[in-house]
Amino acid sequence: MERKLSKLLVLDEWDSRFFKKRIGKLKVTHTQKHLVSFSELLAVRARAKLENMNFVTVRFDKPDARLEKIARRGGLRKCGGGVNFIYKIPVNFKNAPSVDFKIKECTSQQISSACLLAKDAFRLSFLYSCGFAPQNVIDRYHQVWVRNLYANKNSCLLVASRQGNVLGFLVSSADIQGHRGKMMLMAVNKRYRGMGIGKRLVEGFIAWAAAHKISRIAVRTQEDNYAAIAVYNKLKFRLLYSDSDYYMRLK
Ligand SMILES: CC(C)(COP(=O)(O)OP(=O)(O)OC[C@H]1O[C@@H](n2cnc3c(N)ncnc32)[C@H](O)[C@@H]1OP(=O)(O)O)[C@@H](O)C(=O)NCCC(=O)NCCS
Repeated sequence: MERKLSKLLVLDEWDSRFFKKRIGKLKVTHTQKHLVSFSELLAVRARAKLENMNFVTVRFDKPDARLEKIARRGGLRKCGGGVNFIYKIPVNFKNAPSVDFKIKECTSQQISSACLLAKDAFRLSFLYSCGFAPQNVIDRYHQVWVRNLYANKNSCLLVASRQGNVLGFLVSSADIQGHRGKMMLMAVNKRYRGMGIGKRLVEGFIAWAAAHKISRIAVRTQEDNYAAIAVYNKLKFRLLYSDSDYYMRLK
């Protein structure tokens, strides 16, 4: 019998190189849910073993009770869940007025400060729960990610700063041709949270995106990231769907 689910399994080259472990990824969209069965999950495991993978992470979009039950039976362990939002930029969007901190594109003098903020800001990430690597390695992963996105011409890294000090950052990827943007990572210095900086960073990206003819912005965050969810809700992002993350450890 043809195994369809295991065909969706791909090796994550970048993560595998970073963590020095072979990490497979399986993303099951809402329309592929019917492919998930106990035997298909066994086939995924078999293929992962054949390809010498150490871990497989599985993300189910719009999970339901049937899927969660099969996942558990198939030996998957839950390590997180997310919520996915979309923001459609109004045609007549005007930039929000600036307050006492500035939102600007990150400079080469500021990138190290932004990376420093990234170090321990994303501890809600499922990566910390599935045992790829110790905490300090995953901290570094986020820092390297920010630096790589900064160097990528299809990204936009905004920082909030006051008197030269970086208080927060937001890094997004942009598909200018496709008129789509995706917010990847955002963090505000712990001492300055709850002061409107996160909201202003997102508004700053919306302004940047509107200026680049981007009409839709997507963002995903963890289902228990109440601060980030509050920011997106305040800015009238529309909740699209939830997802759940699982992993299987093979060695
Ligand atoms: C998410 C984060 C960037 C928000 O930044 P922030 O500067 O504290 O957020 P803001 O002050 O702009 O808050 C915007 C709104 O959300 C609300 N809000 C912020 N944190 C909240 C929380 N924990 N619970 C409920 N509401 C919250 C604020 O009250 C504010 O509402 P208001 O406009 O009515 O005053 C920040 O908490 C952070 O750095 N978290 C760690 C990194 C992270 O998880 N990033 C997101 C995923 S990539």
